[in-house]
Amino acid sequence: MNHLALDEAARAILRKNDQGGYTLPTYGLYPYQWNWDSAFAAWGFAQFDIDRAWLELTTLFSGQWPNGMLPHILFHKPDPRYFPGQDVWDTDGKGPIASSGISQPPVAATFARMIYDKDPQEGRAHIAALFPKLVAWHRWFMSWRNSDGMIFITHPWEGGRDNAPDWDSAMQAIDPVGVDAYTRRDTAHVDASMRPTKEDYDRYIWLVQRARSLGWDDAKVAQDQPFKVADPLMTFVLLRANRDLAALADALGEDRRELDRWTAELTTGAQGLRNDAGVFDGYNLNLGHHAGTVSNASFLCWFGLVESPKMLAELQEAFADSRYPVPSQKVGSGSFNAKRYWRGPTWAIVNMLIGLGLADMGHTAEADELRARTAKMMSEHGFAEYYDPLTGAPAGGASFTWTAAVWLAWASPSAGGV
Ligand code: DGY
Repeated sequence: MNHLALDEAARAILRKNDQGGYTLPTYGLYPYQWNWDSAFAAWGFAQFDIDRAWLELTTLFSGQWPNGMLPHILFHKPDPRYFPGQDVWDTDGKGPIASSGISQPPVAATFARMIYDKDPQEGRAHIAALFPKLVAWHRWFMSWRNSDGMIFITHPWEGGRDNAPDWDSAMQAIDPVGVDAYTRRDTAHVDASMRPTKEDYDRYIWLVQRARSLGWDDAKVAQDQPFKVADPLMTFVLLRANRDLAALADALGEDRRELDRWTAELTTGAQGLRNDAGVFDGYNLNLGHHAGTVSNASFLCWFGLVESPKMLAELQEAFADSRYPVPSQKVGSGSFNAKRYWRGPTWAIVNMLIGLGLADMGHTAEADELRARTAKMMSEHGFAEYYDPLTGAPAGGASFTWTAAVWLAWASPSAGGV
């Protein structure tokens, strides 16, 4: 297929997964609106339908809780094909619509800025409406998920990288006693060897039950949850998003000083994520140690405008070790698994964020190389949820919204390069 046919196929995926005001990540496996999926979808739509892009973000923020938290799933319409549904989360009365009780990586401000920059005249009213909501969400992270400028998560689903080795020690420290009986639905849609294990799921559900028993109280969850891991992806994504929000503040004539303070705090705090090898890595706040891993999140430093010669050297290794980098776990490391979700597969969404960061920091050759290899992987293997980094074989869900969006906005030759 030539790239124009692939552009059309990618647009068709966005249209097919479009529910009117929001977009499903993919049919079957994920039948609701997911937070960061939706932000990527908006950026994909912005390549051919800017009104639809703004609608995606507006619908997403219609689920924001009064405390500023933007949930990771909005259950617009009940669907038995997914577990855990709204009955398990039991967040009734916390937000305007049924939702989960945790958030997800705050990429929305970055894409809002990029969509605005495409057409400032059309976008002005939209960013004026979204700006206070984005600030309230970022303030929620800075208030309740901030440890000395490192952003931590209280559930693996909050960071989006569900079974990343970064969380292994925190997960092993949990004894999931008392977890209610449940039936997984994900393995009815995707081969179990590509998904988290039963041991992971027992702990995912146990953590939901525990936060539920704390009434989803911000202070209690932040203090008492046994799972508390500072995350390079969350930290670099929020750092970048704060800068983008400050640029939107300038466009609107709003005060940006609070945003600049957060940016300074996160820039300093991110250094605490460096492990002994100098790699940005998960940090278990309860046990006081790094995970000792190189993940694709480690390479998001440039997206947060943080320079790292060590990570540039690691990137060259990733280029040498895998035909389709960047693997979510270093090839050859003990926990590497080419097919299992966030323990090895390559994710196009993370590649795009890494590539944007590399380009912003002047590493043009590396940015071009990453984009070219990602484009080849997608042209040869379609728009999968994730890919085997060694062979490019598709894995997880098919016809995936955010992968199609990444094609349209970044990987396709029509996107105009980094
Ligand atoms: C899932 O259900 O697999 C999701 O990652 C949770 O958000």
